[in-house]
Amino acid sequence: MKAELYDPMLSDSIHLPEPFRIRVIEPITRISKTDRVRALEQAGLNTLLLDSKDVYIDCLTDSGTGAVTQSMQAAMLLGDEAYSGSKSFRKLESVVTNIFGYALTIPTHQGRGAEQLYVPNLIKYRETHHGLDKSKMVVISNFFFDTTQAHAQINGCTIKNTPSDQAFDTSVDGLFKGNFDLERLRDTIETHGPHNIPYIVSTITCNSIGGQPVSMANLKGVYTIAKEYEIPVVLDCARFAENAYFIQQREPGYENVSIEAITKEMFEYADLMSMSAKKDAMVPMGGLLSFKNRQYEDVFKDCQNLCVVLEGFPTYGGLEGGAMERLAVGLYESMRQEWLEYRVKQIEYLVEGLEKIGVVCQQPGGHAAFVDAGRLLPHIPPTQFPGMALANELYLIAGIRTPEIGSLLLGRDPKTGVQLPCPAELLRITIPRATYTQSHMDYIIKAFSIVKENASQIRGLAFSYEPPVLRHFNARFTQVDM
Ligand code: F0G
Repeated sequence: MKAELYDPMLSDSIHLPEPFRIRVIEPITRISKTDRVRALEQAGLNTLLLDSKDVYIDCLTDSGTGAVTQSMQAAMLLGDEAYSGSKSFRKLESVVTNIFGYALTIPTHQGRGAEQLYVPNLIKYRETHHGLDKSKMVVISNFFFDTTQAHAQINGCTIKNTPSDQAFDTSVDGLFKGNFDLERLRDTIETHGPHNIPYIVSTITCNSIGGQPVSMANLKGVYTIAKEYEIPVVLDCARFAENAYFIQQREPGYENVSIEAITKEMFEYADLMSMSAKKDAMVPMGGLLSFKNRQYEDVFKDCQNLCVVLEGFPTYGGLEGGAMERLAVGLYESMRQEWLEYRVKQIEYLVEGLEKIGVVCQQPGGHAAFVDAGRLLPHIPPTQFPGMALANELYLIAGIRTPEIGSLLLGRDPKTGVQLPCPAELLRITIPRATYTQSHMDYIIKAFSIVKENASQIRGLAFSYEPPVLRHFNARFTQVDM
């Protein structure tokens, strides 16, 4: 092929080489079959309870498990560890204003650190200003992430997810499967009474639907409806940069807009943001709670006060000075165009490889391949957790650790104790940022071809211990007889 016809730097038909050089490495070692069997038994057949030393490829999460950049590492040395008003906090605060246009910031130790601050205070605000009935509180999202759901529930709210009908249908592709069904959102508000809705959460990308993006038009639509009813919108934005990338690639009118400009616009369609910075912002630990402007300043102040009790003084929250410096850099690093392109293509490569061997997945999203465990293991009913049964098998076959995203994670309605109906039984192969390469993806695909051969022999699971909240973290299981 002539050089002018083929430019590998531009070609989109090849797997993109990693857009980084690896200069610090962490060795990983293979684990014998005997050790894998022993480790899984000790973990009560719950992959979350495995020790890291017993895992070969860790696809449990992309949260705090990725690589950091040179600039982030270097920034840590600049930490100002003053107890109050540190230079590191002021820098982080101004970076948040610069990137997202948000004025008021509290650093938190991670995403749920922010959730524990805003949830009770938005409830209190709605009660004071709109006559909320505490026995009838409902919060709405495209789909709540587990901790975001749990914080609402432990504060007495019922949760309602209003995704589109096809969000979980793995046989249907869509540009923005993370979108809210706007009509359903409005109906839900009307049915429960706007005064009983303390807030709405737009989750970008939507983790529980499979890392699927939400379009700008949809974010705007949600915000417009929320404004009609004066309901505050929270952006749950752990994977904001991936969402911005999908908008750039898929939404008409944004093809020539930078990730930075798309990001700024997305954040216009919310009043506050709650960020787990352990994902796109690439830090091992960190989070943000930020308010756009002074409209909800009273809530912000209440959050600052609660922060003193739960996280730390509000100018460091849950973070040391060096960690705030690192986060201030990570927020910028997350928006690199080439970086995002590579990351999304790595997921596409994995999903395509799995589909080629007949393993049905949710269409590729931002941070993981979501395998349709319900379809791969039709003989295991949702009550016996096909996603976790598959995760066990994948670990036993290849030492790969993955979590279930299905009935187990969704849990029971805390008021009735009845299992919440789950739209899909998925297994998430989560890819940490800049940590695993193409050959690791090939290894995962190969492992799946072995798992698939034996799929009909995989057994369902029953609880031997079921914790009362966020049960998937500490649950233990036994295998059900066939
Ligand atoms: N919101 C979303 C959308 C998340 O994915 C997570 C965490 C959180 C909030 C909570 O943040 O862990 O920093 O407290 N997701 C991780 C995961 C745990 O594996 O998907 P956190």
